Amino acid sequence: MQFLKKTLSVWVAVLGGFQFGFNTAVISGALLFLSKEFNMSPIYEGFAVSVILLGALLGSSTGGMLANSLGRKRAMGLSASLFLIGALTIYFSSSDLFFILGRAFQGVAVGIISVVSPMFLSEIAPAAKRGLYVSSNQFAITVGILATYGCNSYFAATGNWRMMFGVAVIPAILQLIGVFFIPESPAWSAKMPAQSRSYAALFKPVYRTVLIAGVTLTILQQITGINAVIYFAPSIFQEAGFASAASAIFATVGVGLINVIATLSSLWLLDRLGRRPLILGGLCGMVLSLFAIALAFFIKMPGIHLIALIGLMAYVASFAIGMGPVPWLILSEIYPLSIRGQAMGFASFMNWLANYVVALTFLDLTKYFSTGGTFCIYALFGIVSFFFILRRIPETKGKTLEEIQHLMKQKG
Ligand code: BGC
Repeated sequence: MQFLKKTLSVWVAVLGGFQFGFNTAVISGALLFLSKEFNMSPIYEGFAVSVILLGALLGSSTGGMLANSLGRKRAMGLSASLFLIGALTIYFSSSDLFFILGRAFQGVAVGIISVVSPMFLSEIAPAAKRGLYVSSNQFAITVGILATYGCNSYFAATGNWRMMFGVAVIPAILQLIGVFFIPESPAWSAKMPAQSRSYAALFKPVYRTVLIAGVTLTILQQITGINAVIYFAPSIFQEAGFASAASAIFATVGVGLINVIATLSSLWLLDRLGRRPLILGGLCGMVLSLFAIALAFFIKMPGIHLIALIGLMAYVASFAIGMGPVPWLILSEIYPLSIRGQAMGFASFMNWLANYVVALTFLDLTKYFSTGGTFCIYALFGIVSFFFILRRIPETKGKTLEEIQHLMKQKG
């Protein structure tokens, strides 16, 4: 593939990551305004927040099969169209029902693209740069999340929640146009094996080890608590002692910024240091900072909110170095072509399911175990993750996809 076409392909794919980040995070700033306009009850509000995750469950469970039967390019086009329809439905929604429908469309799109973008990027990447290619998608996710903070605060001045969602038409249109100009993934073009259309192949004993490795990794990415922080940052900061809503939101922007910067440094390091040092080192940082945050919530004394702030920033930075990009990267590397679509779809489905459970249980957990206790639970999952990865996930730096699949067989 010539240089220009390849660069364009990467840009088109990572636009998917951008929309993933943007559309999942945009609700936090818009909720206040739209729940007032539609007169939503708290339970309905909860549903309005989580419906995107339900849509993502549907999208991710079908995304791999779509990528196999339609091809990676057309699957990306389909997801961009759904993003576009979703944003327009929300922008013009005359009732809460249309709003929910629009969010469901966006959810399905997010689910599909969370499978297809990393898959496509890994298939077009040269082995020595695969970390960079695939993880630019994670970088785009973090930029998307940060962009919502900017957009939300801009449109909050006039309470224009419709525009908060409406701007999402721009990346959707760009991606939709882009797919017409990029070549299909060579792996898909080179004739997919016959079994690539069946889910049954996934559960054959030969694939057991590799399936369990990928699925566990994506679940661990979620149950170490990242989205509790991303989705609930303003309320966590308020409880930590940042009295005004404005300072809590300011601290939240800090979280988004650190996420972007640390992911960028990870992009640079993944193909140099390797995946394992980054994810294992990142996990050590996550566990230590989670315990520090927990301590800050347990010991209530003046000035302690600064420890909570530093702890949260360190936690997000450590996540962004390893547990953010590496699971998506490993997923795109370990599966043979014959089951890649279904396996990535299944693992991604489990990722969204775990995301949903964490988002749904966070507030209840803080009630039963206190905020400090909840962070200790996430830290314990961090320790489990460390040992799981140490034993089960091989180094994949610089290897071809075929070599990696051979390595995984040996691990089994
Ligand atoms: C995760 C998302 C998370 C994001 C934060 C992604 O890798 O899958 O659930 O919100 O990272 O940067």
